[in-house]
Amino acid sequence: MTLPARKFKNPSARHNYQGHACSIVSVGSYVPARILTNADLEKMVDTSDEWILSRTGIKERRIASKYQSTSDLATQAALRAMSRAKISPDDIDLIILATITPDMPFPSTACAVQRKIGAFNAAAFDVQAACSGFIYGLEIGQQFIMSRTYETVLVIGAEKLSSIVNWKDRNTCVLFGDGAGAAILRNRAGAHGLMTACMRADGRLTDLLCVPAGGSACPPSHETVNAGLHFLRMDGKETFKKAVTAMHSVANEALRRCELDISQIKCVIPHQANRRIIDAVAERLGAKPEQLFVNLEKYGNTSAASVAIALDEAVQSGCIQRGDLVLMVVFGAGLTWAAAVIEW
Ligand code: UT7
Repeated sequence: MTLPARKFKNPSARHNYQGHACSIVSVGSYVPARILTNADLEKMVDTSDEWILSRTGIKERRIASKYQSTSDLATQAALRAMSRAKISPDDIDLIILATITPDMPFPSTACAVQRKIGAFNAAAFDVQAACSGFIYGLEIGQQFIMSRTYETVLVIGAEKLSSIVNWKDRNTCVLFGDGAGAAILRNRAGAHGLMTACMRADGRLTDLLCVPAGGSACPPSHETVNAGLHFLRMDGKETFKKAVTAMHSVANEALRRCELDISQIKCVIPHQANRRIIDAVAERLGAKPEQLFVNLEKYGNTSAASVAIALDEAVQSGCIQRGDLVLMVVFGAGLTWAAAVIEW
């Protein structure tokens, strides 16, 4: 179905540029079968279902098996998106994979996915923007499509956060889960698509959320492992405050670029980290509860996979129909944050 194109005065809304659009033709997601509930966590650390639910909104999360790596989760999500788009592996020109839990430091997890799906015509690389990675990936993919360099781009957000979580640290282990989401971007003349994406970063606040050791700054050693420096660390309170301000501001910037008011948005898909962050951002934006898509209670925070999985679930459940306007807004380590407006 082709809908009449909207006209935007602002040139940074690149939608339908010279008659072409970067269209998200399909999405797909995958979460591992194993469910870890708050009750399970009560047996592992000094916590309670009441604390986790009231402070975060999370009821359960999915945990990958020890035989599943991030590329395995990503591959399942990619195959679902490819099947819905009715494309073959040979059609894919580029694979962009956003993750903070790569299969290994190098080569890229995108190359591992390329091998597993057999997309041997594609270039492939990883993007590291933590929880903002999927929107960073969409924006990079859009640039290649609008420049007419590539016709078909596979963008994936995938994480096995269970592999970097300290299961003895109640401050963090209750928050995260594993999963993957994927989107197929294509150049479509006269079609609808990704209207704008705003990406932001502040490298002064790297320490708020990081894995301190294992890289070139602090190579892995017995000492780093004994000190637990290979685990994810977060200053939750500070991160919370920054997240609310940054997500509100970048979401507004994306809306402004597209000359849209929040009331015109059918579905707001925020990063699924904490229900209180989501509600605070929604309130500041003036978004109504019925505009919000939230699946945090089932999966916890899946970082780069978070909004990718949510977008897929919103589409498959019928919350988003073709032609609807969607606002996605994310925030994560780096710090990084981003927002995208899509005409679905
Ligand atoms: O995805 C990237 C971005 N990440 C985020 O956006 C996450 C941002 N931060 C948050 O979501 C919240 O800050 C948390 C959920 C991590 C924490 O919520 P909070 O309301 O900021 O709690 P807090 O850190 O102030 O901790 C309050 C208390 C502390 O006890 P004391 O020091 O007051 O006695 C913690 O030790 O809660 C304690 N606590 C827990 N108690 C039971 C921390 N974790 C737990 C736990 N169970 N799992």
